[in-house]
Amino acid sequence: MTRAPGPSGFDMIRVLLGRRAGPVGMLRDLRERYGDVVRIPVGGTPYFIVSSIEGAKHVLIDNAKNYTKGPVYELLASFLGEGLITADGDHWRKHRRMVQPVLQRERMASFVSVMAEEAAALAERLAEHAKREAVIDIFPEMMDVALRIVARSMLGSEVKGRENEVHHALTFILEHMERVSVSGARVLELLPGGKRLRGLRRVLLDLPTRRNREFREAIRVLDDLIYGVIRARRAAKVPGGNDLVSLLIETRDENGAPMSDKDIRDEVMTMFLAGHETVATGLAWTFQMLAHNTNLVGDLFVESVDALGDRTPTVDDLPSLALAERVFEEAMRLHPPVWRISRLSIAPDVIGGYDVPAESIVVVAPVLIHRDKALWERPDEFDPSRFEKAASAGRSRLAFMPFGAGQRMCIGASFAMAEAQVVISTICRAVLMVPVKDGDPAYEPSVTLRPRGGVPLKMLPMRGTGAS
Ligand code: HEM
Repeated sequence: MTRAPGPSGFDMIRVLLGRRAGPVGMLRDLRERYGDVVRIPVGGTPYFIVSSIEGAKHVLIDNAKNYTKGPVYELLASFLGEGLITADGDHWRKHRRMVQPVLQRERMASFVSVMAEEAAALAERLAEHAKREAVIDIFPEMMDVALRIVARSMLGSEVKGRENEVHHALTFILEHMERVSVSGARVLELLPGGKRLRGLRRVLLDLPTRRNREFREAIRVLDDLIYGVIRARRAAKVPGGNDLVSLLIETRDENGAPMSDKDIRDEVMTMFLAGHETVATGLAWTFQMLAHNTNLVGDLFVESVDALGDRTPTVDDLPSLALAERVFEEAMRLHPPVWRISRLSIAPDVIGGYDVPAESIVVVAPVLIHRDKALWERPDEFDPSRFEKAASAGRSRLAFMPFGAGQRMCIGASFAMAEAQVVISTICRAVLMVPVKDGDPAYEPSVTLRPRGGVPLKMLPMRGTGAS
């Protein structure tokens, strides 16, 4: 039995005190001291941090069948139901096969037109701020545009005019889940016999508190909207709609069976969660990095004008917006929105030569892998050219894994990349954002790697653009 290195006794106190540098600082510290498989001996559930690409490959690809998604996802299931993120086993496999084609690049045309419309509206709002050279926090703006885009892509025009309602409901749900998960679930996870106590997590959401009632009410608001759209689409009996609900109504499993209303509701709710804050966080960090690298904004401007002239982007323009793509990739390398990917082991395993008992929590950490000195030159520097084809040759695919890896890899990666390209190339023509503070915001890690205190930037007009 080879036990993975990690803090123990006095060291553990040091590590916990080190949490002042935040969870990401703590992970970096642990890796520096103990290597790329670290065991954290807190409570009854063995907990491992894995930050080598070999370890990531083992957990997410080669021996993926030995891992389930684990405890945090059980809590999420209370509002996502059995969507792709929370489902496991046969239900997940069947639904993955049904949903995947709907989000592939070939189906992206109508989604991109929604993205282009919403990006243009945002550009107009930012250009108004720029007239006054106002300082605004770009993070809520990105949350707002990402929500509008995902909501309209999933539900179609019915959601127009109801965006605020959806925004409030979803924001409340996410904050409540975060609170419950931080205050309760993670503690339970670490207690001796944590597995047996797992059911308690869900109980925390059933307690008759005011916030829990508001939580149910927020879910009801979204349910009403989603089921309303499903009913409307079924009643219309006109196939060929372009929103996700229409596409899911038409999809069939290998036996020709359609999805139920509940199945569709769960997948739509899942996409709301998975496709909203992730993109918004990635974009907020992108604009933060661009504000400190304004020479790139000039290049983005030229790329956008060359590719689009005065048009808004369509799906066919995406290959011409290659710099926008690289800029987003580089921002996600430095600040991966999904900074850790957690799993629960089923049977005992060996990772990187170290024993991992059954029912261990194993956390693969893109946030560490993406800045590994052995994989990246000048790892802390923002340099999108490292994603040019020639520069990427010979680099392991897993050195950059913002969308995860293996069978559970993000199903919305093409959607997210398209959205980022459209938003970046539209905004860069409308405003120039410059920093108001030195350095980057600290991390406020939640489900995603949020910037603490947002991303306040000064908006300046982009002169002589003719763009909105
Ligand atoms: C920059 C934006 C995004 C990032 C960084 C991101 C990242 C990820 C990652 C790392 C996973 C794998 C999680 C794991 O293995 O435990 C994942 C899964 C998933 N993502 Fe994304 N995602 C993004 C955008 C989106 C969008 C736009 C959608 C939908 C429209 C989406 C839908 C999903 C779904 C449904 C899953 C679960 C897939 C499965 O388990 O089969 N994501 N995402």
